[in-house]
Amino acid sequence: MDMWPIRDVRYQVTLACNLSCPHCFAKARQPLPDELSVEEAKEIVLDLKENGMRLLTMTGGEPLCRKDFVLELGSFLSSISARYRVFTNGILLDEELASELKDRGVSEIQVSVDGLEDTHDSFRGMNGAFKRAIRAVRASKQEGIKTAVRLTITQQNHKEVPAIIEYIAGLEIDAFRVRPFVSVGRGSENEKYIPTPEAMIEAFSHIEEKRKNLPFPFQLITPSFHFLGKDPPKTRSEKSFVGSRCVCGKQLCAITPDGWLKPCGYFSVKLGNLREQKFAEIWNNNAFLDKMRSIDRLSDVCMNCKYLVYCGGGCRASAYENTGDLCATDPLCPLVR
Ligand SMILES: C[S@@+](CC[C@H](N)C(=O)[O-])C[C@H]1O[C@@H](n2cnc3c(N)ncnc32)[C@H](O)[C@@H]1O
Ligand code: SF4
Ligand code: SF4
Repeated sequence: MDMWPIRDVRYQVTLACNLSCPHCFAKARQPLPDELSVEEAKEIVLDLKENGMRLLTMTGGEPLCRKDFVLELGSFLSSISARYRVFTNGILLDEELASELKDRGVSEIQVSVDGLEDTHDSFRGMNGAFKRAIRAVRASKQEGIKTAVRLTITQQNHKEVPAIIEYIAGLEIDAFRVRPFVSVGRGSENEKYIPTPEAMIEAFSHIEEKRKNLPFPFQLITPSFHFLGKDPPKTRSEKSFVGSRCVCGKQLCAITPDGWLKPCGYFSVKLGNLREQKFAEIWNNNAFLDKMRSIDRLSDVCMNCKYLVYCGGGCRASAYENTGDLCATDPLCPLVR
């Protein structure tokens, strides 16, 4: 049996985007000249399904800038009983499109909300972006689609976290996902948004406090170091708040719009191109993946840290992209900043 069966695939269907956010790991704006055709994408997802894929996420760029592609690939995924979801900024997601996605069997829509109205619009660089995102959440819910909200914590929005939670509590969403701003892609050119250790701890401590009474499940996408300064969590429920160890390059991979396989979207490392090679050929025979999968020692700071068991040393992409060392400590960790 394959030692590293693929489960979770993040497919950037385009680099086109109707926004140009300062944090974007994909540096999205213009489409690539040679993005996969829908026929090529169908062949690739079939291959992935045969290799064990359980969930495909259509992301980007802004996937709905390639609406017809998303709808057609969505129908195909449903026809082969492959679960899929769409990550969007919500700008183009009105009631009609939500209904079309529902008809094509989408299992979840995730909408980004990065602050209350002024903060979100200013961060996302468009007046009205917040209203459209909220319209998208409502349209998706109205169609009975499982709907998630995704918040990126920044230095500018961290104080709004309580108000954001209060606002979205009224939207009857199905999940609330949070990740701090990661300094990769366009994000590495806009470091003023990186939350300071104090800001990050404040934001996550607030969520931790409120978590038990939230009317929706809270999911931390990556270790976020909110637990620093406290005793490491002991009970199961405390642990459940702590980001699980990352499975990128093990059970999760990303595909660029032009078919390159990557360990996840935050890595710039290209493992091989799915236009030229079958998934298994790349996935099971790649020196970089072998290295990622066999990491047994991180930096001394992490190896000697009492939190290692909970945070796993942070995000490997953040560590590698910022230091060139796969075993380095995640530079977002307050203990090394
Ligand atoms: C690349 S976007 C694609 C989907 C859609 N365009 C959107 O903005 O939701 C997917 C998610 O990644 C988040 N993201 C992008 N760059 C990031 C970074 N450097 N750090 C943390 N989250 C990031 C976005 O905020 C969004 O929630
Ligand atoms: S984060 Fe999403 S909306 Fe913003 S530029 Fe990137 S792809 Fe576009
Ligand atoms: S030093 Fe390493 S193990 Fe400790 S909290 Fe930071 S990233 Fe996690």
